[in-house]
Amino acid sequence: MRSNPPDTPLKLREFRYPHDYDGALKLWAGMEVGVKVGRSDTPEEIQRKLQRDPDLFLIAEVNEEIVGTIIGGYDGRRGMIYHLAVHTAFRGQGIGTLLLDEVEKRLQSKGCLKCYLLVTAENTSAVEFYEQHNWNEMTNDRILAKEFS
Ligand SMILES: CC(C)(COP(=O)(O)OP(=O)(O)OC[C@H]1O[C@@H](n2cnc3c(N)ncnc32)[C@H](O)[C@@H]1OP(=O)(O)O)[C@@H](O)C(=O)NCCC(=O)NCCS
Repeated sequence: MRSNPPDTPLKLREFRYPHDYDGALKLWAGMEVGVKVGRSDTPEEIQRKLQRDPDLFLIAEVNEEIVGTIIGGYDGRRGMIYHLAVHTAFRGQGIGTLLLDEVEKRLQSKGCLKCYLLVTAENTSAVEFYEQHNWNEMTNDRILAKEFS
């Protein structure tokens, strides 16, 4: 994939299933860090996610190719952000910022007061990115998780 020449229009829009599924999966599978394709990314799970908050699952598209994604969630109390990913050839052009800003705006308009996201320990550059966008690392909290089979 070639990088985005300055005059190539970038489109931000909501994810559409099944049209965008393969492109998003390919992008996530190509991430060197930060995003892994997991059991929440099967067609069934992605469709389930889209039954709720379809307006928080966004893609960035150049020439009809998916170059960025973000998935937001809102449970009525807190927000979550998952799968913020920008294709390596398109980084540093503000696409990550556009995706994050748009989801934050949409979360706020739903009444969300606070939002969380998880960054893997080795992904220090993503932490820098989020800190530039006024996200703060929670140093007094520990994250516990439980997998349901
Ligand atoms: C994190 C990521 C989404 C940023 O996307 P991007 O489109 O390159 O980000 P932007 O171009 O909007 O960058 C905005 C600012 O953050 C900075 N920035 C971007 N990526 C950065 C990085 N890896 N390290 C430090 N700063 C970074 C840019 O310098 C820019 O600052 P500036 O406006 O002052 O120049 C992208 O690097 C990525 O996909 N990483 C791999 C997946 C990942 O880790 N996702 C997060 C999962 S928690």
